[in-house]
Amino acid sequence: MTRVLSGVQPSGDMHIGNYLGAFRSWVASQAEHDSFYCIVDLHALTSEHDRGTLADRTLAAAAVLLAVGLDPAQCTLFVQSHVPEHTQLAWLLECTATMGELRRMTQFKEKTRRATAEDPPASAADAAVEADAAVDADASASASASADAAASAAASAAVAVAVETDAAVGEASAAQPETAGSGRRAAEADERVRDASGAARVGLFTYPVLMAADILLYDADRVPVGDDQRQHLELARTLASRFNSRYGATFVVPQAAVPAVGARVMDLQDPTRKMSKSVSSPQGTVSVLDPPDVVRRKVRRAVTDTDREVRHDPDSKPGVSNLLELLAAATSGDPVELADRYQEYGALKDDVADALVELLRPVRARYDLVMADPGELRRVLTDGAGRARQVAAATLARASTHMGLLAAG
Ligand code: TRP
Repeated sequence: MTRVLSGVQPSGDMHIGNYLGAFRSWVASQAEHDSFYCIVDLHALTSEHDRGTLADRTLAAAAVLLAVGLDPAQCTLFVQSHVPEHTQLAWLLECTATMGELRRMTQFKEKTRRATAEDPPASAADAAVEADAAVDADASASASASADAAASAAASAAVAVAVETDAAVGEASAAQPETAGSGRRAAEADERVRDASGAARVGLFTYPVLMAADILLYDADRVPVGDDQRQHLELARTLASRFNSRYGATFVVPQAAVPAVGARVMDLQDPTRKMSKSVSSPQGTVSVLDPPDVVRRKVRRAVTDTDREVRHDPDSKPGVSNLLELLAAATSGDPVELADRYQEYGALKDDVADALVELLRPVRARYDLVMADPGELRRVLTDGAGRARQVAAATLARASTHMGLLAAG
């Protein structure tokens, strides 16, 4: 049977982007596939966190997942830190991944940049974009190398180039198909990204390796993820095949499964940005637990576009297109067809609000039921961790042996 695994960071404040983009497909998959769902509390330690609320947020996240329809009789729901094999395998994979690969991770670059965004040097943003272009060129060069040996050779070459760039810009640019000027600018931008990352937790840098461990421990065939996690999933695939070719068949190489509709719910206040717990304004994010009046108010205040026409056109009309996509996702409709039914924004907003209120009504009711019985919730998680460990321990033992470690006992 196909094995599915996915994860979500603990938050008591899951939003409709999580629900429509991820949880709905998790629920659908539990009946068909052997599904593992993990609340990734260790990932929540990679940036500043509130130790006073983390445990409660972990429980609340589990309650939301049960409320949207995960059924512990059909899937394995567990907390990442309850299964120590995740961090153990992460170490073996850290000794498989390269610095160059992790440095290319867009999310790491964005998060470090955002964290130190106060007072950047005037041209930092532009220069950083250039640096991205330069490293992304490296990324596609190594991605296209199909043989694993070639891929890892390309990755080490990329590291070597990056190191040289620090030492001697002239030499490095000779090694790259760039002019000396653009090489130097990219090197300077790279340096700035590195300065910005100086204060970041090391765990933020190695985050994608822990995520790879989450996936590979369970021999997952399919990994439902949002668009923004594709690069991390690609890394998990690279690490799995590199490990297999170096040390013998050990891991299943997973496939990404990005849901088509609702994969990208945008912020209601800034529809060019993905709805996100960490970045969005509270007004731009609809929580799955928001009561009806709050949902209606947020939808009514959603930013639309200057002309009055209801049309699905994400590039020139991001606000209205986002509303149409929300309505489509909530009612299993098609955003382009739905657009034809509306002459003005007000009616569209009313229907979006109604659809979301109906979608969320049973979720809130079930959430309250689950939270009313904390003992049962703990039992579900203890049982889930037990089942997860059985699978994880076998994979970790296999990986350790294949890597040449002495078996204990
Ligand atoms: N990084 C993912 C996110 O932020 C969460 C995650 C951690 C995950 N481990 C995972 C997702 C494993 C899928 C599989 O959304």
